[in-house]
Amino acid sequence: MGAAVIPMNLGADSYDIVLERGVLGKAGAYLNLRRKVLIVTDSGVPEQWVRTLAAQCEEADVFRMPAGETNKNLDTFREALRRMLSFGLRRGDCVAAVGGGVPGDLAGFAAACYMRGIDFYNCPTTVLSQVDSSIGGKTAVDLDGIKNIVGAFYQPKAVLIDPDVLATLPPRQIANGLAEAVKMALCFDAEEFSRFETEKTGARMDAVIERALRIKKSVVEQDAKERGLRRALNFGHTLGHGIEALHAENGLLHGECVALGMLPMCGPEVRNRLKKVLEKLGLPTRCGADASRVIAAAAHDKKAAGDGIIAILADEAGSFREQRMTTAELKARYISVYGEGKA
Ligand code: GLY
Repeated sequence: MGAAVIPMNLGADSYDIVLERGVLGKAGAYLNLRRKVLIVTDSGVPEQWVRTLAAQCEEADVFRMPAGETNKNLDTFREALRRMLSFGLRRGDCVAAVGGGVPGDLAGFAAACYMRGIDFYNCPTTVLSQVDSSIGGKTAVDLDGIKNIVGAFYQPKAVLIDPDVLATLPPRQIANGLAEAVKMALCFDAEEFSRFETEKTGARMDAVIERALRIKKSVVEQDAKERGLRRALNFGHTLGHGIEALHAENGLLHGECVALGMLPMCGPEVRNRLKKVLEKLGLPTRCGADASRVIAAAAHDKKAAGDGIIAILADEAGSFREQRMTTAELKARYISVYGEGKA
């Protein structure tokens, strides 16, 4: 595969997304590494990817946080800022994330806040962060069990996507990220959705990543701050976050929860098609979580307003619509697909 340079056109906040096998090893051709670079990563990211980037920096330090969403919090955020301070980062220096959505979100928010904003680069190393979370400028940490409730829109200066780094990921992590690519196809691109049905996804991974990036680029360029269209990218996330809040009991990953969160929000025909796609990819399609607890957690989600939740529904592949729903309506949808679940 040759390099695909996908420009994100956001006026003064524009940047390039470079999709190329091996690009991490030539990051210096795309990023300004002739300065202090704080690399933010986590304990689950193979050391070789961190070293590959560090070796190209004039002066690098590494902040390695513990892996896991529960560590995407204000304590870790403070530690990252302290490391930026002790490393002596100045306004002209930068932060570079190497890892999945957790270090990416935290590093971006720390870069947004330190000295009122220094340069941020993202080098995502999971499917989920390559197809979705590394682009678009959402940065945040969680607070009191509410995901991404403290954060900022802060666009990176560049994103380097190297599909070679996915070789070290276990199959479950690959499937986890593909849930977000399926989400984008289902809402925006009926043909791409059919490819998930008819083709072997593993054999066309670079194309899957590129298609998801191009969909997301188009959405973010039209609505960077999520006033309207970008809300469609939350498809599956309201129920998904509710299921994910019970993570300690069900052990499900974010993309797996999004997969489960999508099914009740589909029309019957597309739901059947989606179910088969999820099964084919190794994603869950059954959920035993208690309906009342899922809905209570979903209603805590920041997208809930009063008794109304702005839900995204997909009646057919390649399209979506918004509908304000009460928590009772959301619960009825959940129960119609998964039942009441165990209390
Ligand atoms: N992951 C959804 C968004 O970036 O808007």
